[in-house]
Amino acid sequence: MVVKNICCIGAGYVGGPTCSVIAWKCPDIRVHVVDKSELRIKQWNSEKLPIYEPGLEDVVKECRGRNLFFSNDIEMAIKEADLIFISVNTPTKTYGIGKGRAADLKHIEMCARKIAEVAEGNKIVVEKSTVPVRAAESITHILSANTRPGVSFQVLSNPEFLAEGTAVENLLHPDRVLIGGEESVEGDEAVAQLTWIYNHWVPTEKIITTSTWSSELSKLASNAFLAQRVSSINAISALCEATGADVSQVAVAVGKDSRIGSKFLQASVGFGGSCFQKDLLNLVYIAECLNLPEVAMYWQQVTDMNEYQRTRFAKRIVECLFNTVTDKTLAVFGFAFKKNTGDTRESPAIYVCSHLLEESARLNIYDPKVECKQIEHDLTSAAVTSDPERVQQLINIYSDPYEAVKDAHAIVVLTEWDEFISYDYRKMLSVMKKPAFIFDGRKILDHEALIKIGFHTETIGKRFSRNTLLRASGDHFPSFSWTL
Ligand code: UDX
Ligand code: ADP
Repeated sequence: MVVKNICCIGAGYVGGPTCSVIAWKCPDIRVHVVDKSELRIKQWNSEKLPIYEPGLEDVVKECRGRNLFFSNDIEMAIKEADLIFISVNTPTKTYGIGKGRAADLKHIEMCARKIAEVAEGNKIVVEKSTVPVRAAESITHILSANTRPGVSFQVLSNPEFLAEGTAVENLLHPDRVLIGGEESVEGDEAVAQLTWIYNHWVPTEKIITTSTWSSELSKLASNAFLAQRVSSINAISALCEATGADVSQVAVAVGKDSRIGSKFLQASVGFGGSCFQKDLLNLVYIAECLNLPEVAMYWQQVTDMNEYQRTRFAKRIVECLFNTVTDKTLAVFGFAFKKNTGDTRESPAIYVCSHLLEESARLNIYDPKVECKQIEHDLTSAAVTSDPERVQQLINIYSDPYEAVKDAHAIVVLTEWDEFISYDYRKMLSVMKKPAFIFDGRKILDHEALIKIGFHTETIGKRFSRNTLLRASGDHFPSFSWTL
């Protein structure tokens, strides 16, 4: 079999970019991306794509209508395809057994059932969504229990390692492509087919093949390791604040050890995104189910540390603002979980803002890419507040950061957008209430310069000593600043 037609079920952050790049790099293959959401598909077929990803628009524009198609015709796409990617969402369960921890596989199961119902001939079914270990086995079970004569399936695991904001770059130049398959002649053949697709642009030595279970677990383990690094440096940041050390200096010194490496050591207000929290909780749940409580506790601590970091930062804001933010206006810069994306899933901004709203602060929120409606939705959802009307009254969303800071008592930076670095903070200071505070939750601003112009500056993993403040601000050292 030579793969001529690909179907991708799920046109989200994973399915959309992945299949756009496949279509771009494989002009000999027809790629049909389908979704149950009419709105999503309409957006993929429009000028304004449903997700913001640097470089994606150009890729889509070049391939759309040529060998890349977006539609709601799921049945037709399945019928035509030789290979089907399942790229639907697998959020943390919000009900029943495993609530709050296990991955919810209902969308995956619906896809498997739909494929079993309508597929004709031989199909390779590729699990791309992040799933618990042995999910491929469940998909195989559903498919084989419903198979009709003349139809056969091979199920592969091919986890996605792209990070949002750099998805196109990650897809074009992956560190590795991981393919897990059943250990059989048919399984090897299916793995060879998928390898052939990636070989259009990825060198063979970067393509790793494993058993299905190893592939599934590798995805969870990779995200857990990455999250663990962020929690590790964030734990150190708390120590730095208590001792007078600077977490950036510690990160450089630690990262210079080639065994450790320098990446993912940026202390922050906490990690967010659709994957880290979900995959960690999933790992914890699996370990518990397998009667491995020590393993479960170990990984649970990574997410607990993340929660601690977010709360610690929010509490510090309140503390510095003379222990009350009631009716004070705070300008929030950034709502996305990281720069270069409009995605807010599990964004630390949601947690920090909701803590401040609990304390009755008024928030003027600005983000270059997140839609106003999304911010409102995130802050008024039942998981965040029991009083959405009150929240609605306390928040204002701005499209101009200079407007957002008017009469504000403080600026709170929650996403590391590049544009925040080059703002005219002198101009902002002039329209803010005094003393004006700035809380940099991402460590991206020039703190000494901010102190110099008169901001009371706070950041993660560093306390400014009296000497720094004096040196930077000359005679204008604010009398309210704490000292070591
Ligand atoms: C992650 C994995 O990186 C990717 O391989 C996987 O496929 C999906 O999950 P993503 O969540 O898109 O990708 O973004 P990532 O760059 O990993 O950042 C996750 C969070 O950690 C962000 O909130 C980011 O701001 C934070 N982070 C990252 C830090 O706080 N410090 C760091 O040093 C790195
Ligand atoms: P991810 O980050 O994993 O890509 P998203 O939520 O961005 O998650 O995208 C998942 C997409 O899958 C959504 O657009 C959703 O509508 C779609 N989806 C979920 N279940 C099904 C299904 N059974 N059939 C078709 N599409 C589905």
